Amino acid sequence: MELFDTHCHIDFHHFDDDRDAAFERMRENSVSRIIAVSVELEQTRRLVELSESRDGVWFSVGIHPNHEIDSEPTVQSLLSLAGHQKCVAIGESGMDFFRHRVPPDIQESRFRTHIQAAKQLDKPVIVHMRDADEATFRIMQEEDIMTCGGIMHCFSSSLDAARQALDMGLSISFSGNVTFKNSHELRDVAAFVPDASLLIETDAPYLAPVPQRGKRNEPSFVRHVAECIAQVRGQHVEAIAEMTTKNALLRFKLQ
Ligand code: NI
Repeated sequence: MELFDTHCHIDFHHFDDDRDAAFERMRENSVSRIIAVSVELEQTRRLVELSESRDGVWFSVGIHPNHEIDSEPTVQSLLSLAGHQKCVAIGESGMDFFRHRVPPDIQESRFRTHIQAAKQLDKPVIVHMRDADEATFRIMQEEDIMTCGGIMHCFSSSLDAARQALDMGLSISFSGNVTFKNSHELRDVAAFVPDASLLIETDAPYLAPVPQRGKRNEPSFVRHVAECIAQVRGQHVEAIAEMTTKNALLRFKLQ
């Protein structure tokens, strides 16, 4: 069995004391591939180093919608950082009205810039959508995200939103919150998503899945996400692993 964690933040300081051990636990748990996802451009150097020094590690370039910065990125600035051969996506970018650190109009223009860069690079966009479904879908439609494709990361919205995303050809990625006791609606969505559109992730160090809930999350825990999804879909975990790995390789153009 091989698992692919399509969204984690393994370069964050949370792993400074035991990053090598975390990679070792990945191996022990059949997690052979990860995408280390960017939330600010200052990270890019770290992500380049990490991806160059290890097999099965790729990265993205982008700025989180709620990350406060002094000057907004341009399409050109994203293009210049994302040319590296192990950069496989743009993001995470999107809209987040759960917190209001960055005003909606700034989030919107930032998101548009990310999609425009992704289209030029022909790389998918890792989309962060939180309490902002209407705005996120409107912008993705207007910017024609279908051209480059994308991933609805840490999906935590409704079945209707999942349908809209699928209609736009986007992949839907589930993280630890699908395992939480009260996430009945989310598990219904996980049961509904077609095989070819399904991805899994941890979003580590956040949102550790049951039975590790409350601890620091790490990529090896993506196994629990796979097990939960296998259960709600009535499939074997090996089948979920194979399907989601294949989908990720295709989505990130790794084969
Ligand atoms: Ni993230």
